[in-house]
Parts: sequence; structure tokens; C-alpha cells
Amino acid sequence: MSNTQLLDGKGLSDLIKNEIAQEVAKIKADGGKIPHLAAILVGHDGASETYVASKEKACTQVGFKSTILRFEDTITEKELLNEVHKLNVNPDIDGFIVQLPLPKHISDQKIIEAIDPAKDVDGFHPVNVGRMVIGLPAYISATPDGILELIRRYNIETKGKHCVVLGRSNIVGRPMANLLSHKGYPGDCTVTVCHSRTKNIPEITRTADILIVAMGQPEFVTAEMVKEGVVVIDVGITRVKSDLTKSGWKLLGDVKFDEVAPLCSYITPVPGGVGPLTIVSLLKNTLKAAKGEIYPKL
Ligand code: GUN
Repeated sequence: MSNTQLLDGKGLSDLIKNEIAQEVAKIKADGGKIPHLAAILVGHDGASETYVASKEKACTQVGFKSTILRFEDTITEKELLNEVHKLNVNPDIDGFIVQLPLPKHISDQKIIEAIDPAKDVDGFHPVNVGRMVIGLPAYISATPDGILELIRRYNIETKGKHCVVLGRSNIVGRPMANLLSHKGYPGDCTVTVCHSRTKNIPEITRTADILIVAMGQPEFVTAEMVKEGVVVIDVGITRVKSDLTKSGWKLLGDVKFDEVAPLCSYITPVPGGVGPLTIVSLLKNTLKAAKGEIYPKL
């Protein structure tokens, strides 16, 4: 079978950014408040610097205000909690994120729990996670929300399908499995979660109609592990050395793309699949925050 369709996350993210930009232009024309996203960045971790810079660029593209607050990694937990509090009470900030990971002397969880759930556009606060689990309006974290967007915009059938999720992280696997088990579309799936202690992964993945892979193990999923016609969503992105590229590096997903793709009805490329949609989800949440859609503004 070779009428495989690529799920073009990059193209879709450009389309949705345009939609958001149009909405922001309308808010501006009507004299409303321009959505404002802030990011706290602690220390000088290369990947975190890159992520925060792309988030700022995306804000500019859609017409949001954005602010980056930078702190040295000598900041204490108490001082950082105070910075979070300042953003919580600042009426000009609609939503904010604290870029993770934080230095070892600071508890990520303690910081996340200090964020006002109404401004938690990362969707990491237990209040948002809990609301999401029971189907109440909530900020949904970027990767699962981006995957739902791909499924929705490509009209992929989910009702009654067997969805296998590889990975049980709090930010991808666990919320993804929960969301696809919800009533309605996209949802109504029968969901199986596999993880590092699962005994018979290939046996299970071969029964998947939809396979979502978020383990961070390059090229883990091979052709023998899938059935024909499967929808494959690859969240993995690992940088490995390569003689074939100018930079000396290449990016690999968790799926052995060349051999798995011909068997799929749909598959995400890496890069250009789920990745670009994660920033779009953050923008969507920030717009919702500015409009008071989930937590009405007082
Ligand atoms: N570090 C890696 N991904 C993320 C994310 O989505 N949000 C935050 N705050 N930190 C991250």
C-alpha cells in the first residue's frame, strides 16, 4: 500500500497562525486588549533558549505582545516563586510559562503549582490537568493539543478505533491517552498505554489503528510492529550524528520512517510533524486566556 498521506504539521501551523493573526487584528481594530504571553527563562540551557526564542518569534508573527524574563541559575526557589506571583497578579499578562527544566535546587513541581491556573497556558498545573481529565474546559498542554489539532484538521476517524500510546509522560503520553478516551471527536477511542515495563509491545502495536509514539527512543517502531493502514503520530525528536548532512547532525523520530511510512494511511514526518503545532497550541491557549474563555476574567 503506498497512498500514504503525510500529516503536514508545518503547513498546518502556518495556516493556524494566520487564523490567529486575523483574530488578533480584529481585536486590535475593535480596540480590545492585545494578548500578552510572558516566559520565565532561568539559566542558559541551549535548548531552552531556542524554545523560548521560537515562542517569542511566533508571538510576533501573530501580533501578540511577548515578554521574556531572564534570571541567572543562582536565583533561589523563593525568589522564583516571587517572580511567578508577580506575573499572577499583573493584569497586563494574560498567560505565562516557566521554561523547564529548572536548575536542580528548584522544584519544577513547586513552581508549576504556584502558577495561577487561569494563566497556566502550558496546561501543566494540576488544576488544568484535573479539569482536562474529567472533560471540563482547561488549558491542554502543547503536544497532546497539537496532535488533536492534526487529527481534527485531517478528519482522521477516531470513533471506536484502537489507539496505542507508547510512553506515559505527564506532558504527552498520559494526557494523550486520556483525551482520546473522552466522548466525542476527536475521541471515543479504546486506548492502550505501553511503557518501559510493558512486556509485549510489538504484539500490542500491531493491533493499533492509531499509534502515538512518545518515548524518545530513535527509530524504535519498525515495520514489523505496525499493521497496514495505521495512522502513525511520531512525537520523538532526537539529534544524532550523521555523515550525510552538512551540519553533521540529523533529527530522528521514534519511528523508522522509511520502512514504516509505506504501510501507513497517515504518518507525521520528523521534523515538520507534531513539533510546529506545539507552539501553535501555546498561542491558542494564550488567546483563550486573553479572552477569558476558560477562566472568565473578573
Ligand atoms: N520544556 C520543554 N518543553 C516545554 C514546554 O512545553 N513548556 C515549558 N514550560 N518548558 C518546556
